[in-house]
Amino acid sequence: MSLSILVTGGAGYIGSHTALQLLLGGYKVVVVDNLDNSSQISLERVAQLAQDHGPNLSFHKFDLRDKPALEELFASEKFDAVIHFAGLKAVGESVQKPVIYYDNNLIGTIVLLDVMASHGCKKLVFSSSATVYGWPKVVPCTEESPICAMNPYGRTKLFGEEMCRDVYKSDSTWKIILLRYFNPVGAHPSGAIGDDPRGIPNNLMPFVQQVAVGRRPALTVYGTDYGTKDGTGIRDYIHVVDLADGHIAALNKLSDPSVVCTGCEVYNLGTGKGTSVLEMVTAFEKASGKKIPLVMAGRRPGDAEVVYASTEKAEQELNWKAKYGIDEMCRDQWNWANNNPYGYEPCASTD
Ligand code: NAD
Ligand code: WQD
Repeated sequence: MSLSILVTGGAGYIGSHTALQLLLGGYKVVVVDNLDNSSQISLERVAQLAQDHGPNLSFHKFDLRDKPALEELFASEKFDAVIHFAGLKAVGESVQKPVIYYDNNLIGTIVLLDVMASHGCKKLVFSSSATVYGWPKVVPCTEESPICAMNPYGRTKLFGEEMCRDVYKSDSTWKIILLRYFNPVGAHPSGAIGDDPRGIPNNLMPFVQQVAVGRRPALTVYGTDYGTKDGTGIRDYIHVVDLADGHIAALNKLSDPSVVCTGCEVYNLGTGKGTSVLEMVTAFEKASGKKIPLVMAGRRPGDAEVVYASTEKAEQELNWKAKYGIDEMCRDQWNWANNNPYGYEPCASTD
């Protein structure tokens, strides 16, 4: 019988790609999402892309903090594990509205952990972030590197990790994997699902893609005086399909009785390669054939200079390694943008 996975935040960018990979891998997928930052159309497309596996996807629209609704769901279905994506993720907004971030990201996680425990479901994959490495003094970042928070969003990830560690310490029958994602970009190669942020994009590649389709006049490059090869910031960009596959690898580790799994483990999901802003723009221009006008500007407050992952632990213990490079990331990002210049719901676009 196929394993049943609850995917919180499954209508969003990473969640929808992971839901698809799960379905294709033979899992039953139940998504809970309040559609606060997503569209249900993503899940309709996931079901289409999954073809014969499409009927194994179901969707429940409610807020994770709605404990009675979550209780009812757990009472009606037995889940083998949960992948917890649901959360708010805009760093700048978290500085303006910290309480909303603490409420959504922390209370959502607390309610989830509580309801899981009371229904005996104790396998969890938690979405953490490279943001917990702050401004790293040493790169690549290993899972043992010092962690800190630079903003309220980052603090919700740190606290989320700590809550998971404490829950495991209090009850060793839990199995939890904390995944620290580096910079997810790209889209499914079909071009049918991708990143569709509401409002002005905060992240580099969604902004680049909107310039390419004519929604914005130019990309502002934040910082040209870093001590890097071309003066711009360096990050570890990872194809979202590779990232989605990393979740399957984590589930395998949690579910396979022959695999030794310590109670609460953390893994980086990155490629181990650093790419500058200008290198990424050049790769995107090549993939799209579009010129991206640039406006050179000062550093964005709170930005680190160079961040990239050590990938050894995930390679050795999850048997997972990213397959795609920046050319494939840009090819698939452009394919998504070109097919869906205004995202899933063009009429609802806030441009
Ligand atoms: P996203 O906004 O596309 O997806 C998050 C989903 O969660 C959305 O569909 C949203 O509607 C839903 N959601 C939010 N709060 C909810 C709530 N209280 N109840 C139910 N649903 C809720 O974001 P994403 O890029 O797919 O990120 C997924 C997770 O990965 C997040 O936890 C994020 O912090 C983390 N993460 C993202 C990145 C990134 O750069 N995209 C990097 C590191 C970590
Ligand atoms: C990448 C590079 C910018 C936009 C953020 C969050 C982090 C994680 C991933 C969730 C930097 C530059 C960007 C633009 C630019 N999310 N840039 N012009 O800052 O590494 O990480 O997303 O967990 O928490 O902080 O990603 O895509 O915003 O920036 O020049 O319009 O692109 O300065 O060097 P970042 P990013």
